[in-house]
Amino acid sequence: MDGNGRWARERGLPRSEGHRRGYEALREIVKASTDMGIEILTVYAFSSENWNRPRDEVDALMNLMADAARRELPTLQEYGVRVVVSGRLDGLPDRARQSLLEDMEATCANRRLILNLAINYGGRNEIIDAARSIAKEAVEGRLSPDEIDEKLFKRYLYQPDLPDPDLLIRTASELRVSNFLLWQIAYAEIWVTDVLWPDFTPETLAQAIADYQKRTRRFGAVVED
Ligand code: FPP
Repeated sequence: MDGNGRWARERGLPRSEGHRRGYEALREIVKASTDMGIEILTVYAFSSENWNRPRDEVDALMNLMADAARRELPTLQEYGVRVVVSGRLDGLPDRARQSLLEDMEATCANRRLILNLAINYGGRNEIIDAARSIAKEAVEGRLSPDEIDEKLFKRYLYQPDLPDPDLLIRTASELRVSNFLLWQIAYAEIWVTDVLWPDFTPETLAQAIADYQKRTRRFGAVVED
């Protein structure tokens, strides 16, 4: 959800106000996604590198996420949204961790949309966490190194039951992958827009999907037109 800071700077507002408006944009996108028949939406809300931001910005983001998780629970239930979190949850402040855990538990039977919040998430960390768990099992004799293949490795990622994303949207003209879902985006289609995240609307999302639908996916193979 890039561009919150730039959106605020353009208006002479503090960065935290950009994040607050970014959250408002996310609310609309979650609602629109349920209407559009999107089954899984993953959003990068806080990366493992974001701890390096100024202390007051990190605090504002953590408070925003804790408050939002608590406040939005009735809406999540109304729209049939199931919340899951990808990332090192145990590294979050208590209040944010607790509110997110409550949402995950309370919404676990919802089926319309899975909202996967990447929080304290890093793609390399995710791969390291998986490698550690696999190594432990190997040391304890529960699996043999020869059994390790893509299918087995995926089972140790944060969301083993979710399919790889079809479409990766980058806002605010960023042309980097930025440690996001490194394993899962192997064949994702990338769509970049100069729209800053607080200005991202359901119409922007519809445009991204319409462009995606025009593409031919090859997954490394040759496809005749
Ligand atoms: C990146 O923009 C945005 C973030 C680091 C925070 C995104 C988080 C939210 C919108 C809150 C979401 C709320 C919930 C409940 C998950 P940036 O600050 O890097 O912007 P810049 O590139 O313009 O500086």
